[in-house]
Amino acid sequence: MIIQPRTRGFICLTAHPDGALQSVKNQIEYVKSKGELKNGPKKVLVIGASTGFGLSSRIEAAFGSGAATIGVFFEKPASEGKIGTAGWYNSAAFEKEAATAGLYAKSINGDAFSDEVKKETIELIKKDLGQVDLVVYSLASPRRTHPKTGVAYASVLKPIGEPFTNKTVDFHTGVVSDISIQPVDKDEDIENTIAVMGGEDWKFWMEDLKNAGVLADGVKTVAYSYIGPELTFPIYRNGTIGQAKNDLEATVPVLNDLLKDLNGTSYVSVNKALVTQSSSAIPVVPLYISLLYKVMKAKGTHEGTIEQMERLFSERLYTADGVVPLDDAGRIRIDDWEMAADVQAEVAKQWNQVTTENLADISDIEGYRKDFFNLFGFEIDGIDYEKDANENVKVPSIA
Ligand code: NAI
Ligand code: NA
Repeated sequence: MIIQPRTRGFICLTAHPDGALQSVKNQIEYVKSKGELKNGPKKVLVIGASTGFGLSSRIEAAFGSGAATIGVFFEKPASEGKIGTAGWYNSAAFEKEAATAGLYAKSINGDAFSDEVKKETIELIKKDLGQVDLVVYSLASPRRTHPKTGVAYASVLKPIGEPFTNKTVDFHTGVVSDISIQPVDKDEDIENTIAVMGGEDWKFWMEDLKNAGVLADGVKTVAYSYIGPELTFPIYRNGTIGQAKNDLEATVPVLNDLLKDLNGTSYVSVNKALVTQSSSAIPVVPLYISLLYKVMKAKGTHEGTIEQMERLFSERLYTADGVVPLDDAGRIRIDDWEMAADVQAEVAKQWNQVTTENLADISDIEGYRKDFFNLFGFEIDGIDYEKDANENVKVPSIA
């Protein structure tokens, strides 16, 4: 069928399989252009592997380091005339390219928060790989059903303590307006957000993997966090999601303890603000990203998820001397170019000036919009969107 984008707010209801394939290929080409990692990972589990940072982690591990990969995600194939999700098509594309390159790649589609999916993953590792030497934890979800209690938690994106008023943009229309977001009115909202996006599920995964004997000696595990500028602190780092990120970061020493007898290490990597399905849902942040992109592109320091993951692997996790550079709080920082003083000073200046009228000039709203559609396989160079696409493509290891 002919597939066109159909959006509702920050959600795109359709996705294009050929665009997804091309965008995965583009990421692979980038990774290959950087040359093979010398002492990179060889058997990798990526939890949240179908889009955003997780997909790019999988591509970097496979095509930058020759790794066998198992990817876990929660996506939908096409059914009854309905188009599949972007992450489904990305994963179909990834497995196809991996097979062509002679790389092992299998995927598990289901709820990563559940005990069942953890068990299924462990069985697959045992059967095919024996052990894994890297576990990437890159889930982003608005809800989680707790595997032990059955309680269903929903996260919220709210400030804590006081209402937060600031500028925001509708990236479809380019209208800049003020938004006021009321703070959480019950502590439960904070606890629920921690239950969904905090570190407990990462810990459950690592405990189960260790108990099953499927973690290799010297195993590494990494999860992703965000800090960002002061102007987004009320809605991000000091808001409900920030409390979950604090909890995720506090899980690092717990996992280091768990992995000690395997000589294993756990890390949180603080990544750059980028357009993904998750970040487009956060108020205020898309306007910040639009201004940030403009400044970083002008300086030549702009990166997408694949550039970030290539740098994470080659210059942080798998350096030539084996030393992993960390900040004072023990975190990996690949948000360093975003947080550079000159970049932040310029963004702050533009933030005060930006209006609907000057948005197109002083921000990269067009780059934001294009990145958003690219996530769903649209507006990818070289794709003819008037042509019929096969919406029924399969993920080979699942079909
Ligand atoms: P994303 O929405 O692109 O990816 C989320 C992944 O999680 C997808 O593969 C999805 O299928 C999977 N997933 C969600 N619920 C699942 C479930 N129940 N079971 C199995 N898989 C499930 O998100 P993104 O942005 O790549 O986020 C990944 C991590 O990076 C998050 O921890 C996020 O906070 C962090 N991060 C994101 C930044 C950004 O600007 N986008 C910046 C810094 C960190
Ligand atoms: Na991801």
